[in-house]
Amino acid sequence: MTCPEGNGVLGHHLRSLSSEEVERLKRQESRGLLPVFQQKKLELEAGKNWDKFYKRNETRFFKDRHWTTREFQDLIGDGMVKRTLLEVGCGVGNFFYPLLEDGLNLFVYACDFSPRAIEFVESHPMYDETKVSAFQCDITQDELLEKTGQGVDIISLIFVLSAIHPDKFQAAISNLYRCLRPGGMVLVRDYGLYDMAMLRFGPGSKLGERLYVRQDGTRAYYFIEEELAQLFESVGFVTESNSYVTRQTVNKKEGIDAQRIFIQAKFVKPEQ
Ligand SMILES: C[S@@+](CC[C@H](N)C(=O)[O-])C[C@H]1O[C@@H](n2cnc3c(N)ncnc32)[C@H](O)[C@@H]1O
Repeated sequence: MTCPEGNGVLGHHLRSLSSEEVERLKRQESRGLLPVFQQKKLELEAGKNWDKFYKRNETRFFKDRHWTTREFQDLIGDGMVKRTLLEVGCGVGNFFYPLLEDGLNLFVYACDFSPRAIEFVESHPMYDETKVSAFQCDITQDELLEKTGQGVDIISLIFVLSAIHPDKFQAAISNLYRCLRPGGMVLVRDYGLYDMAMLRFGPGSKLGERLYVRQDGTRAYYFIEEELAQLFESVGFVTESNSYVTRQTVNKKEGIDAQRIFIQAKFVKPEQ
């Protein structure tokens, strides 16, 4: 399906919008985009805003992700050879601690913008320096290869790229590329176009095309399949898989029955 609503979105997307949803998207722009000086402030304070997020929510916000080996079977390996995983934007460790709990033969480098998130990672009951090395960094600026030695086998990027300003996507992805050994892979899961959370933003929160700011100053970007592949391919990756996935979210208490739309992808660094 390509752009049936005529709302300027080019590329393949998973569903068309109802007329009410089209109106809702239009209303998001009724007060215009957030002014440039406020947008610059958000960018300058991006790390601080994530750190405040973890100060407020501690380890309560994200749930342990137990679907990961089902969705990303490459994580499992043969069990014999220890591989290195770099979990980027690790938060408090909800992605990688379940992998260690399952006994996967991995050494995990875990990094995040927020120093407080890293403190939570290090105070987790399963934290063990022989299995985990956690460090604070800004992946749009700090050279990851310097932190991880000779390059890692796998990088996971779970709902992280969407938290970064699109102007910095390329810098971040190039950084990942340099940090990966040839033949290594990046596993991505992130927000997709017309995800229910994208449709729920109100006027005053739109920053740009598919880019929004939440009440707490953290930002969210909603990806189109082709765009994500192009971003990775532009720095040298080969796309092995890349598609939308949907999940139905039902919360009877809050009266929510909505469709989550994510993008799930695997990009490989060529051997040569
Ligand atoms: C939506 S959270 C996802 C956390 C975790 N990956 C998970 O799925 O539970 C986004 C994470 O990306 C981190 N982040 C945002 N921008 C970053 C940057 N430039 N460098 C490193 N981490 C960043 C945030 O601090 C936050 O922990």
